Amino acid sequence: MTERKKMTLPSLFAKVAAGQPLTMLTCYDYSTAYLQEQAGIDIVLVGDSLGMTMLGYEGTLPVTMDDMIRHAAAVRRGTPSAWLIGDMPYMSYQPSVESAIRNAGRFMAEAGCDCVKLEGGTEMLPQVAGIVRAGIPVMGHLGLTPQSVSALGGFRVQGKGAEQARKIVEDARALEEAGAFAVLLEMVPDRVCELITDRARTSFIISLGSGPRAHGQLLIYHDMFGLYPRFKPRMAKLYADAGKVIGEGLAAYVGEVQEGAFPQPENYFGMPDEAYEELRRLIGE
Ligand code: KIV
Repeated sequence: MTERKKMTLPSLFAKVAAGQPLTMLTCYDYSTAYLQEQAGIDIVLVGDSLGMTMLGYEGTLPVTMDDMIRHAAAVRRGTPSAWLIGDMPYMSYQPSVESAIRNAGRFMAEAGCDCVKLEGGTEMLPQVAGIVRAGIPVMGHLGLTPQSVSALGGFRVQGKGAEQARKIVEDARALEEAGAFAVLLEMVPDRVCELITDRARTSFIISLGSGPRAHGQLLIYHDMFGLYPRFKPRMAKLYADAGKVIGEGLAAYVGEVQEGAFPQPENYFGMPDEAYEELRRLIGE
């Protein structure tokens, strides 16, 4: 394994100050985390999207803290160097500041995360400020916030109109003032993202489908590699169709087993004649 330097808040902000775009991906398991570590990904998000990609739910709402901790701990083992974000699942922070601090603490203590992410703007400021006061860095998440998809009216671009965009701009500023070190903008128009990026002072901005004028980019790993069969968001770029390649491999395996072409001698282990004869004698054959 190639050794990397651990990403920290100062090293992330140093990259931003040097004008180097930050790379961020979702990840939910050890072996993928290992590949992302090797690729030098700066920020890894254990998103509650694992409810869909890993657990097969329709959305993110059924995901529990225990689900998140188990996956985040596995990802930490695979990527010791990336800045690791634990995504706070539905109802782990909305009910109270205390629930937010306790659950954020679980990500740090039980999974080895570096920080947490939560969805929402001004309405979540007490939670953001409380978690930051507890010494835990927080990333905000604005625009399309999947935990509120029912209230938002579906998976659609947020902030197309001036009034809705103004709320997002103000929310980003308020999150920064409450102590958030970064804000993720999901499916916000590129010009709104650019405005927010230009106005950021003590936080950096990550874009997911919100255009190039941010301090960094996020993609959902499963969308990059064709691994989620149910839908393909327009903003995703397919870097390699691993889903297709794996599908072809599975079909070949089924065919070879059925035809007797698998396994071949290199795929199994033999036994010396002498030991085999002795075995037959011992079992009375
Ligand atoms: O859960 C997740 O993967 C996320 C991204 C959609 C930003 O929160």
